[in-house]
Amino acid sequence: MTNVVKPGQNYKLSQYEKLGGEAGVRQLVSYFYQAMESNPKAKQIREMHAVDSSEAEEKLFLFLSGWLGGPSLFIEKYGHPRLRARHLPFSIGIAERDQWLLCMQQALEQIEIEKPVLDELMQAFFNTADFMRNKQS
Ligand code: HEM
Repeated sequence: MTNVVKPGQNYKLSQYEKLGGEAGVRQLVSYFYQAMESNPKAKQIREMHAVDSSEAEEKLFLFLSGWLGGPSLFIEKYGHPRLRARHLPFSIGIAERDQWLLCMQQALEQIEIEKPVLDELMQAFFNTADFMRNKQS
């Protein structure tokens, strides 16, 4: 009986769990929007957002919950996110992508996580942010 897997033996923590579950993901999103509000380097993407970003903040939390391997809250509430289509009204090139990633990096650095987890998350965010690009430069 070499194939028997004991309970928990092969269990890998999801990124959602590594971030501390719901409270951790909410904190991350809050730091992300604080970074976007306050970092002058994020000026272009801040100007794309509504003055009151609380709705966008809640939606980013709901989306990231599922995206990070936790409960699929966005899908339960709104259905398929169609994320790329939702971003088409905004002009997103390399500068905008990098401003978004800068805010996320700043937010992740404020959370207590280990460097390899931060790097793994930044790689995943890069892929999704780059996919959102709808202009060349
Ligand atoms: C690449 C650069 C990005 C830019 C410039 C950008 C910009 C925006 C803007 C302007 C909005 C609308 C906010 C509002 O209603 O006031 C939005 C919505 C949203 N963004 Fe992004 N975004 C980017 C990347 C991302 C990434 C990487 C994710 C996920 C990992 C994401 C997730 C969302 C979600 C979930 C919403 C709400 C969509 C909805 O209303 O259904 N965005 N984004």
